[in-house]
Amino acid sequence: MSQNQRPHYRIAPSILSADFARLGEEVKSVIDAGADWIHFDVMDNHYVPNLTFGPMVCKALRPYAKKADGTAVPIDVHLMISPVDALAAEFADAGADLISFHPDASAHVHRSVQAIKAKGCQVGLVFNPATPLDVLDWVIDDLDLILIMSVNPGFGGQSFIDSALRKLEQARKRIDATGKDIRLEIDGGVKVGNIRQIADAGADTFVAGSAIFNTPDYQAVIAQMRAELA
Ligand code: DX5
Ligand code: ZN
Repeated sequence: MSQNQRPHYRIAPSILSADFARLGEEVKSVIDAGADWIHFDVMDNHYVPNLTFGPMVCKALRPYAKKADGTAVPIDVHLMISPVDALAAEFADAGADLISFHPDASAHVHRSVQAIKAKGCQVGLVFNPATPLDVLDWVIDDLDLILIMSVNPGFGGQSFIDSALRKLEQARKRIDATGKDIRLEIDGGVKVGNIRQIADAGADTFVAGSAIFNTPDYQAVIAQMRAELA
């Protein structure tokens, strides 16, 4: 897909920076504030040095992930876990819409991709700041999403790593060469002040955790991000 045919931008707040004591309300608030997707960061204290939430929490939040008119809002599950396959299947059963994993966390990337698709979910691959895109040579046609990490995975509130812009440009070229509708998502350090530059590098989907949840007015931040993208 070429630059001017690019589908609409999506803003995907990461509930990693939400109030964990009130997760349902937080999901509802951020959707009322204009969130397009809910980004759900799964960490296992093995692939990354942090531990968050599993399929039971995803299932509990599923009823909250809808707009006021009842339209479902996609839950974008970002797996930072190894191994991948067993839990990915559980997330599909728990109501995930998209499931992304890190290729270096799966012994058999192609098999994991097919297994997620077979469960009826959209599938994405996630690339860490120092991970090359080479694996895309072999699986890009099967993907719905490519997620570029602009921080090392594990924590919210880190600074954007600039080399991610170059990687976005490379990923955008690869996506456009397929002619397919594959989303290009960025995750880590996204703010009102850099979202335009990130979009210009090729991203169409923006994860933002601390930039949204560490402010009192989610709607204002999301509106400012959309204004930058307009
Ligand atoms: C980091 C997670 C991110 C995180 C981003 O491992 O994948 O989704 O929540 O947080 P911010 O937007 O604060 O950098
Ligand atoms: Zn994430």
